[in-house]
Formats: sequence, C-alpha cells, structure tokens
Amino acid sequence: MTTTISVPFSPPCVGEEEVAAAAEAIRSGWLTTGPKTAQFEADFRDFVGAPAAIAVNSCTAALGLALRLHNVGPGDEVISTTMTFVSTLNVVQHVGARPVLVDVEPDTLNIDPRAVARAITPRTKAIIAVHYAGHPADLDRLAEAANEAGVPLIEDAAHAVPAAHRGQMIGASDRLTAFSFYATKNLAVGEGGMLTGSAELLERARRLSLHGMSRDAWNRYGEKGNWFYEVLEAGQKCNLSDVQSSIGLVQLAKLPAMQARRQAIWDAYNEAFDRLPGLQTPATRTGVDHAHHLYVLRIRPGAMVDRDQLIAGLAARGVRTSLHFIPVHLHRHYRQAYGYGWGDFPVAEDAYGRMLSLPLSPALSDAQVEAVIQSVGELVGRRARRAA
Ligand SMILES: Cc1ncc(COP(=O)(O)O)c(C=O)c1O
Repeated sequence: MTTTISVPFSPPCVGEEEVAAAAEAIRSGWLTTGPKTAQFEADFRDFVGAPAAIAVNSCTAALGLALRLHNVGPGDEVISTTMTFVSTLNVVQHVGARPVLVDVEPDTLNIDPRAVARAITPRTKAIIAVHYAGHPADLDRLAEAANEAGVPLIEDAAHAVPAAHRGQMIGASDRLTAFSFYATKNLAVGEGGMLTGSAELLERARRLSLHGMSRDAWNRYGEKGNWFYEVLEAGQKCNLSDVQSSIGLVQLAKLPAMQARRQAIWDAYNEAFDRLPGLQTPATRTGVDHAHHLYVLRIRPGAMVDRDQLIAGLAARGVRTSLHFIPVHLHRHYRQAYGYGWGDFPVAEDAYGRMLSLPLSPALSDAQVEAVIQSVGELVGRRARRAA
C-alpha cells in the first residue's frame, strides 16, 4: 500500500502561546532588545547551567563574536569539520582567517579529534567543534588537542539544544558556545541565537553585538536611563529583539515536552529501520545525551535503492526529506579559494553519498511518522530483503 499523507520535513512546533507572547511584546511598545531579551538570556543561562549568556540574532553571529572574542584575525588558521553547515567556516573568513577543514568519525560524523591534532600548525588560533545532528562531539579529546596547542575550543551547538556530554549540558562550560534558534531548530524563534561562556568574555560580547556601544537602548531609554553612550570598539549589529525573545521564552518552557516527542519519533524510526538490512541508523555513543535534532539515515552499500532513488521515492509519496550536509570542502568557493576537492575527506564523502535526513519535528503526528516508516520500508525494506 502506498501512502498519500503529506509529511513536511521540519514543521515548526509553534502555536497560540507563541502568537500571544509575540503580540504582548509588540503591544508593550518595546520591540528591540529589552526586558524580554534579558529574561530569555537569564532563563536560557539557567536552563543549560551556563556561566553567562548573550542573545543574538543568529548562531552565525554568535560564532563570529566568539572568533572576535578570541582575537582571531588575518594570518590565523581555524580548524573545523567539513561535515557542517557553511556558516561554521564562513565566519572564519569574515574575520580574515583561514578555514582548515578536517574529516569526521565514521559513526557519529562528528569532527575527528585525531584529524584535528594532525591539522594543528603554529598558525592555528582556534578549533570549532560542531555537535552534528545533536550528538555531542568528543569534547574530552578535542579539549586535549586544543590544550596541547594552547588554543581555545569553540562549540557550534546549533543542533545541540538540549544535549549533554558526560552529564554536563552543552553550554555549561566556560567555553564559548553558539546556539541557533533558526526556524527548524529544536528551540525556534524564526531567526535567533545565543552565545554562552565565561562571564568575563561575554561582557565584551554584549558590547560587540551592538556597535561596540557602552550601553544598549534599554539602558539608555528605560526608566532610569539617560542618552549618553560611548563607542568603545567597532562592533557588529546582531542583538536579538524582544519580539523574538518572547517567542523564545515560550519555546524554552515547552522544550522538555518537545524533546520527549522528538525522542519518541527517533525511537520509532530506530526500531523500524534497524530491522532493514539496507539501512544504517544514527549512532549514539554512551555518555552522551543526544538532542535528536536531525535523524540522518545512511543507505548501506549494496542496498537495492541508492540515496537519490530513496529521496525521489519518498517525495513521490509526499514525504519531504533533506540532506545534512554537502561537505564544506566540496562547495565551489572552498574548492576555488583553498584548493579543496573530492578525495580530501573520505569519511565525510562516503557519508554524503549515502545520507538523507528524515522528517523530525514534535509537530509531526503519529500518522505522519507511520507514513515515513511505511514509505521507507516499501522503498528499501522489501527490495533489500529480496536482494539478500
Ligand atoms: C551546524 C550549524 N552551525 C551554524 C548554523 C547557523 O545557524 P543560524 O542560521 O542561526 O545562523 C547552522 C544552521 O543551520 C548549522 O546547522
């Protein structure tokens, strides 16, 4: 039987509470960064156990600030994974430094700490770990490599809300850690992000997020404010508005329930697909709490369908999928500017050729999840079993 139910890839899990919160912020007359953003920062900081947190308008902005806070600039190299969204590496170039890509671990597709150690040179100024799909990277070995090189480890936690490594929440350390609240993320405000880390570093981040000004609008135009401010350095403009922070506050309160639903969908997928010989389900190592952001399935070599056929077959049945990621080193800019190309990172390339991301969102109904399972089974299962 072929299903006809339509299954979007990542429908947002927002409702009337978010609408009411945004409306209240708009009616309050305070649209830009103000009391709601201060509340969102405090609640998020407490939720992950961070020393400090600054809300910004994207994870990309948070990563860019992290590089500036560590004084990364022209002539420097920054090591990161090729299996990420280009944002992680684009920001390195925004500060004038050179991105140095490395391969990933075959099971988690997270940055390989051994490859990081091999890529360190006297010009290395920072390492950026990405918690791919919500699975925490091997922070112990990455921190070891960073310590040996005497450089900071920065965390791209765009997928890792909430996640934990050896019982410590991602974002709870002194390390600069960048989160995303983009529309498809586990906690979504439309466009938004958060930078967590040591209070000392983040004091400058607040200034850098708003033109380098000594005081923000709330401090100038709030009840006890006055008009004076000084520009202390040439900052960016990446503060988060109170409208988005109001949505973020509602999403943060709903996060445990949304995560439980993600976990249930994840478990249902694993149970169904672990039985099908043509499929490789995502790995979860012991000692981590996975954020279950992306369900990345891989087609095993020799299966009766390849990845592209599976994506097309699912689309024909109304199931939308995505792909995370085209490895950064294969993008034209990275090939032309840095000489990267096919063959450079075999683990990432092999995974890229076999992967797709299945629909995953707390907003999916049981019937939609069942439709995904049934459709994948029809396309891969029976044919793979016949082939076996
Ligand atoms: C791994 C990773 N890092 C960074 C980003 C950038 O996030 P934002 O859109 O909030 O800037 C993304 C976005 O999808 C991402 O997947």
